[in-house]
Amino acid sequence: MSEAQALDDRARKILRDNDRGGHTVPTDRLYPYQWNWDSAFAAFGFSTFDIDRAWTEFDTLFSGQWANGMVPHILFHQPDDDYFPGPDVWCTHAAVPSSGISQPPVAATLARKTYERDPVIGRQRIRILYDKFLAWHQWFNNHRCESGAAAITHPWEAGRDNAPDWDAAMVAIDPSGVAPYTRRDTGHVDPSMRPTKYDYDRYIALVQFGRDQGWDEDKILKDSPFRVADPTTTFTLLRAHRDLKWLGDQLGENTEIIDGWISDLAQGAEILWNADLKSYDSRDLRSGNFANSLSNASFLSWYAGVEDGRSLATLVELLKKVKYGVPSFSPDSAKFDARRYWRGPVWAIMNTLIAMGLGEAGHHEIATRLRLDTAELIKLNGFAEYYDPYDGTPAGGGTFTWTAAVWLGWASPTAKEV
Ligand code: DGY
Repeated sequence: MSEAQALDDRARKILRDNDRGGHTVPTDRLYPYQWNWDSAFAAFGFSTFDIDRAWTEFDTLFSGQWANGMVPHILFHQPDDDYFPGPDVWCTHAAVPSSGISQPPVAATLARKTYERDPVIGRQRIRILYDKFLAWHQWFNNHRCESGAAAITHPWEAGRDNAPDWDAAMVAIDPSGVAPYTRRDTGHVDPSMRPTKYDYDRYIALVQFGRDQGWDEDKILKDSPFRVADPTTTFTLLRAHRDLKWLGDQLGENTEIIDGWISDLAQGAEILWNADLKSYDSRDLRSGNFANSLSNASFLSWYAGVEDGRSLATLVELLKKVKYGVPSFSPDSAKFDARRYWRGPVWAIMNTLIAMGLGEAGHHEIATRLRLDTAELIKLNGFAEYYDPYDGTPAGGGTFTWTAAVWLGWASPTAKEV
């Protein structure tokens, strides 16, 4: 058996081991529930060897959809003391206990990939899910896109929890009403690889704020101290709209409404272009200020179908600074921290999305570098949550679902891309 085949076997075993029956946890103990975008990647991984199980992952994710169309970022399918903050803190009173925010909508894109692996089964399964996807995308359009780009109401909604993108906006959050609490994440992972207490106090304060508004989106829009337009959400949503339209076309649906969302968002994304940084950036919608954050999300523009000659040179320069690309934050900044979550480490899933876009836009050389970097990180250091961009040290949780998934679907030499 070749090295690649042995790693394929290990990756499949990780997906099976993290399967809790209909949904997959990101990793044991650290994240004991169903996370939204992790779950879509799990489906992408399953689609390489168990197409039925892949579609079940989406079904379970949408079982937690709210009446207003929102698909939560966490579904608390069963009680678990290993995680904080649990359902008692969120108080969302949803049919399936859940958080009150969403997460980057990669699901339609990865559902399309799953469909393309087996169009006969894909057609049957997406038929049942299509209207649910549409309602979720409509929710984003109605409740997150008031600036033209897509905004987040909590750092967790961008998936990049402690990215420096939010540092300035976080200053406006008052954590004085947060009662003492015990973090669980730092019991599972070295605290130097996780967000700080300063950040956590503000994360919890924002959860309490949403809870006190009864998770009413209009009240949150009006009064929340935190609202930031961000490239992760904007570009994953733009791409997801395009893929949802493609899926709708397969079903013979009228997709005109999606055309409107695509053209509005493609235009709106331009508010994220930071000419000084020569890159897409996050933008605080309360102050109007750019974050001045050169992150891996900055390079999701190609993935979104935005051909962007402007930031290619920025990416090339950034890649010269590290052994393994793409770092989640620029090493030139004093805030760079090579092993602290979204402030420096490399994430295999982000590399997958960035490279997918670059490849489609014809930038094959860089796309290949990112695939080879990711494959080497996994070969040398296992299926970690993230990695040090200088020496590849594995960081965060181990035996990670989405890292195993993108190995199977993209990074492995045996991967058959769709
Ligand atoms: C966590 O708990 O670290 C998650 O990223 C929140 O979604």
